[in-house]
Amino acid sequence: EDADRLAAFDARVAADDFIEPKDWMPEAYRKTLIRQISQHAHSEVVGMLPEGNWLTRAPSLRRKAILLAKIQDEGGHGLYLYSAAETLGVTREELIEALHSGRAKYSTIFNYPTLTWADIGAIGWLVDGAAIMNQVALQRTSYGPYARAMVRICKEESFHQRQGYEALMVLANGTHAQRRMAQDALNRWWWPSLMMFGPPDDNSPNSAQSIRWRIKRETNDELRQRFIDATVPQAEALGLSIPDPALKWNEATQHYDCGQIDWEEFYAVVRGEGATAKDRIQARIDAWEKNAWVREAALAHAAKRSTKQAA
Ligand code: 3HC
Repeated sequence: EDADRLAAFDARVAADDFIEPKDWMPEAYRKTLIRQISQHAHSEVVGMLPEGNWLTRAPSLRRKAILLAKIQDEGGHGLYLYSAAETLGVTREELIEALHSGRAKYSTIFNYPTLTWADIGAIGWLVDGAAIMNQVALQRTSYGPYARAMVRICKEESFHQRQGYEALMVLANGTHAQRRMAQDALNRWWWPSLMMFGPPDDNSPNSAQSIRWRIKRETNDELRQRFIDATVPQAEALGLSIPDPALKWNEATQHYDCGQIDWEEFYAVVRGEGATAKDRIQARIDAWEKNAWVREAALAHAAKRSTKQAA
């Protein structure tokens, strides 16, 4: 009987149907979706920290208001994605506990420190730019709630990318010191941004199954290449140089060839090595504990409201 249900499930995925929470699904499909969606949510929430570091030091009220709006969006993306993960039968507490205990991952990009204001521009331009490449593809992921969450998130993400690029444009066209600051940020954020797409396809344990289940619609390397091809001309428009001496346009393939990514660094950051990783998790644990009263108040308020309505 499971064979029939599995055949029906595979046929629906192959027909590009959305799988919905109440549909039968293989346990392994459910499990890998909880893994990916919850880690996506953790990335959004931890990603608020490096940018939050510059809120009180934004160079103008305009920049501060834009950054505040972006950070608020990221928090919303996180809650959206936690809710999508909960439709698969896991509780918010379990998801948060997995992050705080270090069992769950979040994108390595957020373990890098934001050393200057230019980093805020580089994050918007490169990190949100890479996230857009990945998330546009995820709008067609086979799990309905995840795909629909992506539609809204992608709209807000393009604002994030543009505001970052515009902030860097101001610096790149500013004083020598500002230009140097913009170039220094590109030098530090370029390679970690390429790592956001995950390990190479020939070393990506989840990809084959995720492609078969149409959770992943394009491979890590395909999306990474698309990001490089789109971003190099943007760097040229800023008059900044990409920190990769091997980068060059390949007329035959119509793509940029680029140098070797340091996967040793990637796996070290995934393992949580480096001071920032410990600070990030500690900051999340402190926030969760310090703000427990907000959750309790909201729950008490909701309970009061529902008893009033019931009466
Ligand atoms: N950082 C940390 N871990 C990573 C990683 C990264 N950049 N890239 C891959 N990994 C992990 C995977 O999670 C997996 O470990 P796991 O099995 O314990 O989860 C392992 O490395 C092997 O990688 P695979 O390629 O086999 O894993 P996936 O098939 O899951 O592909 C992925 C990785 C492309 C990141 C995929 O999970 C994905 O598309 N996730 C959704 C997008 C996402 O999470 N983006 C993170 C950034 S969100 C963001 O930037 C928000 C923006 O607003 C700033």
